[in-house]
Amino acid sequence: MSQTVRAAVFPVAGRGTRFLPATKASPKEMLPIVDKPLIQYAVEEAIEAGATKLVFVTGASKRAIEDHFDTDAALEQALTDSGKDKQLQSIRDIVPDGVSCIYIRQGEPLGLGHAVLCARPAVGDEPFFVHLADDLIAGSPGCLKQMAGEHARHGGSVVAVETVPPESTSSYGIVAVDGDDRVAQIVEKPAPEDAPSNSAVVGRYLLDPTIFDKLETTGRGAGGEIQLTDAIADLLDDLAVYAYSFSGTRYDCGSKLGYLQATVAYGLEHPDTGPEFRAHLRSLLKG
Ligand code: G1P
Repeated sequence: MSQTVRAAVFPVAGRGTRFLPATKASPKEMLPIVDKPLIQYAVEEAIEAGATKLVFVTGASKRAIEDHFDTDAALEQALTDSGKDKQLQSIRDIVPDGVSCIYIRQGEPLGLGHAVLCARPAVGDEPFFVHLADDLIAGSPGCLKQMAGEHARHGGSVVAVETVPPESTSSYGIVAVDGDDRVAQIVEKPAPEDAPSNSAVVGRYLLDPTIFDKLETTGRGAGGEIQLTDAIADLLDDLAVYAYSFSGTRYDCGSKLGYLQATVAYGLEHPDTGPEFRAHLRSLLKG
């Protein structure tokens, strides 16, 4: 029987240069979609999937993430005193009871694979999630919960995939699968002419802890960085890795356009803004 997945790793050390100057002093993961930062959506998705240990792999200028998940007694008192119960609940609910946050510094920017390896002491010898907060996925249940269901069915590791336009393969890890959705090949950011398919890995992984041993020996790959994709390729001979086509809509919030699309989609759904925002968009589009 497969094990429950208790740990979720959030690599959050990247500088977010695509969003400068907004991300000069503030982490890209703290960019809000309506009223919650991207990293809070990430944490909620992991908790829904059963995670109780949240491991953030952080770097320079990421202090705001730690502050966000800490209790703020002074703010809670101020909201209590002014009777702002809804707002009070919204900050109390950020980290539910029984869930713990662990912060590990990635001392050098050596890539996603290196970031995941930094989490090893906190994860231990158990399967774990990796969640890239830039990829916001709207879905019910969330993508990680869907992947936990897959894992419960057949064990092994699971990567979430989506079909992308053939010209976009150089932005993703690309997989080729066999008839049972088992990954036969995975390549980091191939040029379209070298890509084995146009099935792209998005920022959700459920990994067997054996990946840590692979990461220890994975050399530098695309972009001179230690790539998680390369370590997964090393895993394929030993253990099954499944490609999972999730149900939901992914927004690439690492790009300006994807971020704006997510803001519009979530703004239309949000109870505080939906009806008026819809009317506003209609009037804008008529003009
Ligand atoms: C990372 C991974 C890539 C994956 C992508 C998903 O790339 O290296 O394999 O497809 O995330 O968002 P990045 O977007 O960090 O360049």
